[in-house]
Amino acid sequence: MKGTFPVEKFREIQTPFYYYDTNLLRNTLNEVNREAGKYENFHVHYAVKANANDKVLNIIREAGLGADCVSGGEINAAIKAGFSTDKIVYAGVGKSDWEINLGLDNNIFCFNVESVPELQVINELAAAKNKIASVAFRINPNVGAHTHANITTGLAENKFGISMEDMDKVIDMAQNMPNVRFIGLHFHIGSQILDMGDFVALCNRINELQDKLAKRHIIVDHINVGGGLGIDYQHPNRQSIPDFASYFECYNKHLKRHSKQTIHFELGRSIVGQCGSLITKVLYVKQGTFKQFAIVDAGMTDLIRPALYQAYHKIENITSEMACETYDIVGPICESSDVFAKAIDLNKVQRNDLIAIRSAGAYGEIMASGYNCRTLPKGFISEELL
Ligand code: LLP
Repeated sequence: MKGTFPVEKFREIQTPFYYYDTNLLRNTLNEVNREAGKYENFHVHYAVKANANDKVLNIIREAGLGADCVSGGEINAAIKAGFSTDKIVYAGVGKSDWEINLGLDNNIFCFNVESVPELQVINELAAAKNKIASVAFRINPNVGAHTHANITTGLAENKFGISMEDMDKVIDMAQNMPNVRFIGLHFHIGSQILDMGDFVALCNRINELQDKLAKRHIIVDHINVGGGLGIDYQHPNRQSIPDFASYFECYNKHLKRHSKQTIHFELGRSIVGQCGSLITKVLYVKQGTFKQFAIVDAGMTDLIRPALYQAYHKIENITSEMACETYDIVGPICESSDVFAKAIDLNKVQRNDLIAIRSAGAYGEIMASGYNCRTLPKGFISEELL
């Protein structure tokens, strides 16, 4: 089955562009709230890095989620969209002074600190403002995730977080610093994780670390388990809303919680991934020596995931019902890696057909670039095109 798209409206818009189905987005958010709401003190933050389109952000803010930011730009985008600053968490291995100051000025909920030198700088900058910064330590749990190597973050070899061995030392340091308040631990093992066993492994590791801390009579108020829940790229229509029930249940079951402890989640892809498609127009159908190419007007500058991670996105010809033929779908960029898919079957393609590249709501529009002096793609939400 193809997705349902307002094709006539699409004909009036300059391609390529992103299209966001806000019914699906709202239903997804309702499901997140319903499933997380079953458990006391589960707080969900939206990972702004997945998609910072202002219309999308507004809808997510309306649903009451917090914001997980990794830069000053994201903090500004979240504030502009109306996220309350006491629900903003701020992670990242390389926070600049102006970004830390922005967080301090806005009294954000928590800095997720990734190194000792960063902790020292936050303490100094907070002192200069006579403030106390709330900090959590991002601990690298050395837990692998069964996902693409480029999006695995929780292994000792990755640049992220503070090693488990250093955890006690940095907590001691923080407790002796006048301008930081140590409030929690933060983790994130990777993205596009579909095997709940990976999250169970994270829970087990967090339990171990908490037991270790409890021996020192330290019980943190907040545990942030990051994000990472994956989506079904193969079948965007089959399970368009990810299995949030199993996800939250998994944490409720496997994470040992101390009384009143709050559990935070930072979900990006699972919230916005399926609601977005990249809509592109066919420029030419070219017969190669061994294959035929459908050359479209979107390129890796608009959606880099296939080129960067060999990611699969389902592709549909939304303006043809003719018998299927086999095509390589390629863009106009001067790079051999500017290929969206190889040897896929599509309803016969002709010049000016519209193609939907599905499941592109997360890490699509936001990762677009201006390489080849291209214009950044615009994003439209479905309710604008009624
Ligand atoms: N929290 C932290 C600390 C993160 O680094 C990330 C994603 C998230 C939360 C959100 O993860 P999600 O729920 O979206 O899996 N560009 C890549 C994905 C990079 C993910 C980076 N970190 C892609 O297109 O697959």
